[in-house]
Amino acid sequence: MFSNKDKARFANVETPFYYYDLDLLQKTLSSCANAAKVYNFHVHYAMKANFNPAVLEKIKDTGFGADCVSGGEVTRAVAVGFNHQQIVFAGVGKSDKEINDALDQDIFCFNVESIQELEVIDELAAKKGKKAKVAIRINPNVDAHTHHNITTGLDENKFGINSWDLPSCAETLKTAVNLEFIGIHFHIGSQITNLDVYKNLCIRVNEFATWFEERGFAIKVLNVGGGLGIDYHNPDQQIPDFEAYFKIFNDFLEVRTNQEVHFELGRALVGQCSSLISKVLYVKNGKKKNFIILDAGMTELMRPALYQAYHKIENISRAEEDHNTKYDVVGPICESTDCFGKEVELPETSRGDLIALRSTGAYGEVMASHYNLRENVNVLLSE
Ligand code: LLP
Repeated sequence: MFSNKDKARFANVETPFYYYDLDLLQKTLSSCANAAKVYNFHVHYAMKANFNPAVLEKIKDTGFGADCVSGGEVTRAVAVGFNHQQIVFAGVGKSDKEINDALDQDIFCFNVESIQELEVIDELAAKKGKKAKVAIRINPNVDAHTHHNITTGLDENKFGINSWDLPSCAETLKTAVNLEFIGIHFHIGSQITNLDVYKNLCIRVNEFATWFEERGFAIKVLNVGGGLGIDYHNPDQQIPDFEAYFKIFNDFLEVRTNQEVHFELGRALVGQCSSLISKVLYVKNGKKKNFIILDAGMTELMRPALYQAYHKIENISRAEEDHNTKYDVVGPICESTDCFGKEVELPETSRGDLIALRSTGAYGEVMASHYNLRENVNVLLSE
């Protein structure tokens, strides 16, 4: 929902642009921080979801750590001022340069995704005379019941070390003198809305923790990843239920004394704080279909084209009127998948109307591209 003041500001900004509601972001962050504090849980923000400078600043100020998946993200996290000892580095394909740079930054931990990667980090740390802290990312084969393309914790996925490779992983850890094993890491997928999935994850985490302990490894960190979903159909409902989410882990995870539980939340923290605002370029009324052609396309918001993702579409120039016309809402890019919604019920719409694509704070601006030589998308921050 946008205030009249917001709408007055929108009229003066060149479309398309991402609008960030920093007040809502702050409320979401505080709600998460308060809910985590009850159990002394540690939260790392999954930076891949959104690295807009204003967003990162607020997240850093909340005291969260940073979960990075590239050297670029590690560098950015350091530059923004995240505590080095709260930076974790995950990813199936860390290059030697990325590993070396992260070693130089003395980050908290590498979340390691293969035995070969363990050997490379050990070798590179040895050259620097350092000991790298590592957590083993295990693929727990737990179904996240989310979209196929954003599932990461099944045997068929490329992520993490599979259970059958753990014995040789344990051997490597025992002999690698420049590695310090600190714990185990999991991330089974994104946009998870069924909390039972996390119950299943906890059961598997307990099993793997016991497996390592039985072989003489002390586990300091249980990192259960992120993935908590948001309600794309109700963007005004806004703040996810962090209390229920953390309670599941408190109820089902067997946490030993001196063990820390870490989370890597992205979408749930930033998803609802932004909308992509776009202008209607043309309305084409056909025999079979009516089209609204926007000045934003898959180059600004890729999720619908890539995952058939739903984003609520609102005509904010005519919000109060009857939603009595059906349109396919499309972008200007020369691709048929450049479509934000089919048969969307909207008020009768005209050239020049402003359209909001809601809940675009996560994996929106960061996934924008220059395909078709499109320009950078603009940004407007709330006042
Ligand atoms: N930790 C790891 C290791 C991850 O790979 C991810 C996301 C997260 C944490 C954060 O997940 P979240 O809490 O945001 O669900 N582009 C897709 C989502 C890709 C997620 C990639 N990994 C989308 O637009 O839906």
